[in-house]
Order: sequence, then structure tokens, then C-alpha cells
Amino acid sequence: MEEKPERTIGPYGLEELLGRGGMAEVYRARRQGPGGFEKVLALKRILPSYARDPQLVGRFLEEARICARLEHSNIVSVVDFGSAGGEYYLVMEWVDGASLFAVLKQLASRGERLPAEAAAYVIAEAALGLDEAHSLADEAGRPLGLVHRDVSPQNVLVSRKGEVKVGDFGIAKAVGSSVRTAAGVLIGKLCYMSPEQARNETLDARADVYALGVVLWECLVGRPLFPRGMSGEALNAVLEPRVPPPSEVSVSPRALDAIVTRAVAPSRSDRYADAGAFARDLRVWLHGVAPGFGPGDLAAFLAQSGTMQPPPAPQAAAAPTVTFDAGPAAAATVPARPPVAPRAAPSPPGAATAVEVRGAGPAAASPPAVAGAALAGEPHEVPTTRAQPSRGRGGRWTGCLIAAIILAVGAIGGFATCMSWLARMGEQQQPTEQAPPEDETATSPKSQ
Ligand SMILES: Nc1ncnc2c1ncn2[C@@H]1O[C@H](COP(=O)(O)OP(=O)(O)OP(=O)(O)O)[C@@H](O)[C@H]1O
Ligand SMILES: [Mg+2]
Repeated sequence: MEEKPERTIGPYGLEELLGRGGMAEVYRARRQGPGGFEKVLALKRILPSYARDPQLVGRFLEEARICARLEHSNIVSVVDFGSAGGEYYLVMEWVDGASLFAVLKQLASRGERLPAEAAAYVIAEAALGLDEAHSLADEAGRPLGLVHRDVSPQNVLVSRKGEVKVGDFGIAKAVGSSVRTAAGVLIGKLCYMSPEQARNETLDARADVYALGVVLWECLVGRPLFPRGMSGEALNAVLEPRVPPPSEVSVSPRALDAIVTRAVAPSRSDRYADAGAFARDLRVWLHGVAPGFGPGDLAAFLAQSGTMQPPPAPQAAAAPTVTFDAGPAAAATVPARPPVAPRAAPSPPGAATAVEVRGAGPAAASPPAVAGAALAGEPHEVPTTRAQPSRGRGGRWTGCLIAAIILAVGAIGGFATCMSWLARMGEQQQPTEQAPPEDETATSPKSQ
């Protein structure tokens, strides 16, 4: 929380300053309306020192025009653009979380990194967002050839719910874009630049694939790939990239090596042709090791590793805690809903049914989706599908009930059969006792 400006831009009240990038600053902003209407948003404005620079203003306007047309769950959406007091501002959806950069930095400060499953998930989601941007067409259906050009961990946002969104199309360029970069001026972060971007060539989607490949490498290895800054050493490394497979320099699944290597191939003809193909390969791998890995799993890791506060637990009726023992090792507490076991901010008491697993043992407690967390010695989620003792008990009760019904039906049936048998017996005996045989008098001893 750097500053708390008490000011407004247009109809937006500015709250916390989130940070300053190369040319702009971003605030958390609030739009209020009648009847208590309130919406938290992110507002970006050009830094005052650049507000009169026609090229930067032009780029900002271009960003607004481009982003207004981009609608995808993996892209930060732009909801408004305006000017007030001679300055332009861009209003975006508020991503309640942090940049991937902040996440990686926090993990690295503790000597940890993202589990490979989480890394693959984040990058696959970001790739889907980029693929959408790359496929953007004009109203006549002509492809715009949009390239982000500044794909970096700073510009991939991760929400507390585990959503992944690419933002900051500030230097994105479409074919025929009105904003031109001066020849010889490199824009973007050198350490994520493809060789062709560093050579200032015309770019296509594969430049973003390369940059995202570098981000994936850094997620898996837990450190920067290339030297930071704009030194000659950094430029040489970028112009002729030598990227070791992640598993050679870190504990990373070997199967991901081929995907990373293909994404960061120095020659673009050797790379994935589009970000969608990159995303597909990552998802296939992810499906093989952690089927169904999704936002909830990412959110669980972020919360349990202490990287990010979990979203507030939904208010629910008080429910009891169910406890069962599963062996002699580690312990984990798993709320049934939501799938995040909050560490930094525990759920309000009774917010959800909690199932406490004691001593689930290393094998049971390390599903593939959280293998990295387990490696890092962090507490982690045990999938709620394991924690369903009530289903077994319910099944036993149902079985008992059915058996009781069968016994009761059998008993009633048996009783009825018995009664009818007795009745028949009675019927068979009655005539011999009561009906006077026609020759009774003749045979009666009395008469004799
Ligand atoms: N829509 C948003 N919702 C929430 N936070 C955001 C949003 N957009 C940007 N931020 C955050 O605001 C801060 C400043 O963003 P900005 O894009 O200006 O700089 P940066 O991403 O850190 O660096 P750069 O984009 O220049 O590489 C960052 O911490 C970023 O994560
Ligand atoms: Mg940014």
C-alpha cells in the first residue's frame, strides 16, 4: 500500500496505487452510483511526465482501441476509456490477485517455486488469452495480426480464485497499426524478447510464443533465464539464445522439456506456429499428470503456500467437523467447500464442513496436482474426492435398511403363510368332527 490518494479521475475515485510500469501507473479505483452501486476497477493513466508525449499518448490510445475489442476470460478486459483534466485514462476489470512476477518473486525469496502442474496451467491459460488476441480480426473479418510484444511475468495476472489473465497491451501492435516505433528503438523487456524482436524485425504471434516460453522456463526453474537489463551481455544472450532444458538445471518433469524447447526455439519456423498449439501441448501434459487441474487447484496452492490470501469463504450454515484417521504421518485440514484450505485467513467458524485428515501418509498426501507443494514441504490440499467418509456410512445405513425391510417382508409373508396353513388344517379337520356321517347311528357304539 504505497499511497492513498484522495482524488478522482472522471467518475472514478482513486484508491491504492498498485504500481508504476514503464509509462503508466495503475490504481485501484471505485465507481459509485445511485442506490449504493459500487464497483472496484483498475484505472491506468499515463505518468504525468509522459502525458504530453504524443508517441506515448498515441500508444495509449492504441491500447484502448485494441483492448476494447478483446473479450476473453484470459485477457484483462477494458471497460472504459476517457479523459479528464487533459489526461487520458483506461479503466479495466479489477483482477483481485497479483502479477505472476510477484508470485514468482515471493516463492523465490523462500527458495521455492511453482509446482510444475501450476506452472503449466498458468502458461496454458495465458497462451489461450494470447491466441485470442492473435486471432483478432477487424469487422470485415480480416486478421489484425496483433502481437502483444511485452509478454512477461509482470503482465500475466493471477487472481486469488486462480484465474489467469494477460494484461497490458500497451505496446501491442497490429499490422497496419497507426503507432510506429522509431527504427532502432527496442520496446519491451529485453530478457523476454525473441531474437527477431531484438533484431527489430516484423513480428508475428510466434514472438509472443517465445516470450511465454521463457516465462514457462522461469516458472519451472525458479530463476531468470537471461541477465536483466539492457547490457551488451543481455543483448547477446537474447540474440543467440541458448536455453537449457528445465530438467537439466532443476527438478522439473522431463516431459515438459520438449514443450519449452519448442516454444523458445531461436528460429521461429521451429516454434509452435501459434499460442493455441502451445496451450494444447501443455494441457495434454497436465491432463496426464493431474486430470482436471483448474483454477481451484491453483488458488489452493497460492493460499496454502502463503503466496496469496484466499478469497473470502462463502457464508454458510454452521456445520460440524468430521474427523477420521488415515495412518501415521502428516496432517492436513480440508474444507469441503471451497477447495482452498486457508492458512493466512482462516474461514469463519462453521463456514463449511471441514474434514480433517490425519496421517494420510506421503503417497496419499501427494497427489500429482500438488506434487510441487509437497516437494517444497508445504501443507497442501488433499482432493476433496478422497474425503468422503459420509458416502460409505450412508451406503452401510442404506444396506441395513434394505435388509430390515426384506426381513420384515419375509416375516410378514411367513406369518401369513403360517396362518393360512393353520386355517387350511382347521378346515380339513372340521368336517370329520362336525358333519354327521350318514351311517353314524348304525356304527355308533352307543347304539350298539
Ligand atoms: N487490471 C488490473 N487489476 C489489478 N491489478 C493490476 C491490473 N493491471 C495492472 N495491475 C497491477 O498494477 C501494477 C502496475 O501495472 P503496470 O502494468 O503499470 O506495471 P507492470 O506490469 O508492473 O510493469 P510493465 O507493465 O511496465 O512491465 C502491477 O502490479 C500490476 O500487477
Ligand atoms: Mg504491466
